Amino acid sequence: MRFKLVALILLVIITVNTQQIRAQRSKSKQIISGKHWLDSKGERINAHGGCVILYNDIYYWYGEHKVKGLSEKQHADGGIHCYASNNLVDWHDQGMVLNLTKEDTLSDLAFDCNQDRPKVVFNKQTRKFVLFFKLYIRKQGTKVAFIGVATSDSPSGPFNYTHKFLGGGMPNGTGDFAMFQDDNGDLYHLSVRKPDKAFVIGKMRDDYLLPEGKYQICEGITKHTEAPAIFKKDGVYHMLASGSTGWAPNAARYFTSKSISGPWKYNGNPCEGVNPYNQLGPEKTFGGQSTFIIPYRGEKDHFIAFFDINKPKHPFDNLYIWLPIQFDKNTMKIRWINEWNPKHFFENK
Ligand code: DGJ
Repeated sequence: MRFKLVALILLVIITVNTQQIRAQRSKSKQIISGKHWLDSKGERINAHGGCVILYNDIYYWYGEHKVKGLSEKQHADGGIHCYASNNLVDWHDQGMVLNLTKEDTLSDLAFDCNQDRPKVVFNKQTRKFVLFFKLYIRKQGTKVAFIGVATSDSPSGPFNYTHKFLGGGMPNGTGDFAMFQDDNGDLYHLSVRKPDKAFVIGKMRDDYLLPEGKYQICEGITKHTEAPAIFKKDGVYHMLASGSTGWAPNAARYFTSKSISGPWKYNGNPCEGVNPYNQLGPEKTFGGQSTFIIPYRGEKDHFIAFFDINKPKHPFDNLYIWLPIQFDKNTMKIRWINEWNPKHFFENK
């Protein structure tokens, strides 16, 4: 009789706790990919083609600020915007951390330039935050793409533009890129070379400001691979990327390697499921294109795949897709999830 009573009390406690946890979970803010995301003031988050870094337990999200009303053809880029968060769902506007100028049309950062895919890396030796972006100079077309470099002493900027360089050891430079910081602090620039679209890698100097020497071709990475995003898990480098179809979505590509310079192995398309807002599945990467992999809390095993849904006619309306990376054995899978919360998903809290 006493045993039954204790069992009954335990059952009641467990049921109440489970209900409380469910209630808390349903109250906490969710990541809803493919919908507009608002910051803490209720404004649309305007940070496209971006990256998210963790510094002193705060996440900083940097991306292209798209000017409302302008199309990509009209050069909608308006500088680099930064947001901060401690949980990846509540974002606080930190303002513009790098501005374009209307006054000096000869400046590298004149309005009407294109400033794509900003990536920020912290250099522990110099204590500088280094911001890289793909830069097409105003009125010079897209034949030559530079990497623009700006630095700051603080993650929330302002960043000071210092210089540009041509990657890939080529006069036409390189296009979409990833900056991968290895465990020992070495930084690599991985990018699609112009004009032949071979995929190349070059090591950056210890101060990260310029490539150290020559670039080499990454064996195993298909030509015309764009939008690379890289993480390392258990000594293996994983690269998520796209094909090359301008702003239109295509199927994602997945490569792995035991060395950052390759040879890389192709593992097909890691995406599964369908985006219910546009009915697009893996064949079009849910309507998105990869831009970055966010290491959750900087941990070695939890990662978030970050894609942008591009709307070239009005990029202010671009959308974000963030999905947890799951592993089947050691193979990455990116499954569509309608709503999720990183803390619940990764820490089961
Ligand atoms: C594909 C790239 O991934 C985008 O960032 C953008 O540069 C477009 N090309 C422009 O066509």
